[in-house]
Amino acid sequence: MKKMTLQIFILVLIAGIVGIVGEIVLKYNIDRLADNYKIITEEYVEDRICMNNIRNLTYRHQSIVAKHITNGDKDMYRFYEDKEKEIRDQLDKEMKNFEERMNGSDGESLYHNVFSNVSSYLYNAQTVMGFSREENKKTAEYYFNNTMEDFLVQVNGSIDDLDEYLQNQMDEAKNDMNRYIQFSRRSEIICISAIAIATILCVIFCVRISTGSEKYKEKLEKEVELKSEAIQEHNRKMLYLQNNTIIGMANLIESRDGETGEHVKRTSAYVGILAKAAQKRGKYMEILNDEYIDLLEKAAPLHDIGKIAVPDSILQKPGKLTEEEFEKMKLHTSEGGKIIRDVLGKIEDVEYLQIAEQVATYHHEKWNGQGYPYGISGEDIPLCARIMAVADVFDALVSKRCYKQAMPVDKAFDIIKESSGLQFDPELAKIFIEIRPEIEKVLLEDN
Ligand SMILES: [Fe+2]
Repeated sequence: MKKMTLQIFILVLIAGIVGIVGEIVLKYNIDRLADNYKIITEEYVEDRICMNNIRNLTYRHQSIVAKHITNGDKDMYRFYEDKEKEIRDQLDKEMKNFEERMNGSDGESLYHNVFSNVSSYLYNAQTVMGFSREENKKTAEYYFNNTMEDFLVQVNGSIDDLDEYLQNQMDEAKNDMNRYIQFSRRSEIICISAIAIATILCVIFCVRISTGSEKYKEKLEKEVELKSEAIQEHNRKMLYLQNNTIIGMANLIESRDGETGEHVKRTSAYVGILAKAAQKRGKYMEILNDEYIDLLEKAAPLHDIGKIAVPDSILQKPGKLTEEEFEKMKLHTSEGGKIIRDVLGKIEDVEYLQIAEQVATYHHEKWNGQGYPYGISGEDIPLCARIMAVADVFDALVSKRCYKQAMPVDKAFDIIKESSGLQFDPELAKIFIEIRPEIEKVLLEDN
């Protein structure tokens, strides 16, 4: 189909080019023919003037010769002979002019006939005048009425022949011109039609291509929209599965720790409340947007995922851990980050992955740099881990564990306050205390 359209388009293009070139050629030829016709006409007019002059001069010459013969007064000979010479000079001049016009055309022999007949007539006239001057009037009259008259008839006949030939030439040129004009008119109609058809077809093609492009664009947009919806649906399902898997993993860890899944739920809730409160107060605006808070809430359950690598004997020990045991316990942070990288490294949500890894790795770091695993301090600790630290410690304080009893809420908030600027980000600790009613509400709902 595309190939056919291209072929038609090429044909249309050729038609247009032929039309335009045809128009140019016709215009050029008409101009050339018109110039040629003009030259022929001018030449014809000049030829006719010249022929008429010769014809008139020969008649005048004949009349002078006749007067010379019939003249009885010898004193008048000189007068008529001067007159005759004057006309003969004029005839010579015309004949020279006539000779120059013999330009090698088809009618050259006709020119020659006129020329030789005039020459013969003049020669004969000289003879007649000689007899007349010698008073041999009868002989002069005889030559005048016979030989000279015959030559004059021949002069006129050859001029008529030439005139007819030139007239035919003119008619032929005129007919050529008319034929070409008719041909040009027909050709011009064809050329203009070709240009018009080419233009119309080009416009139709352009409209069709434009409409086709619009339709193709719409179709493409629809397909993209459908695919986008399918991808979004797939992502929603994946996210649902992912969240459930994460929460399941987190609950499994907590159950090894002797806890139910409540710690996971509560810490996620605290993290969300604290982050939103900080956002509301205009803190950490360059990081805390809605998406970050949402991802942080989802990643929070994984903060202790590294405990998978901690033996049950340490995790479930009722008493205080030895130094060696505590060192092993501390490894759950860096191990957690590693597990998240290894297990979730292939999911597409890079930001989620980064937050989850930071929360797991740094949630035991302290503001004053005395935490673990790396001992980093202040704002070097990622914001998500600083938020997690407050929520995690608070919930650990108010929860019963295998090695301790639950702490009263007042006391827990006191510890948060006392640890501000030491263990916790002072801004976050301050906000956490300010949002105490919301935190207690979560705690009460759970108990
Ligand atoms: Fe932890």
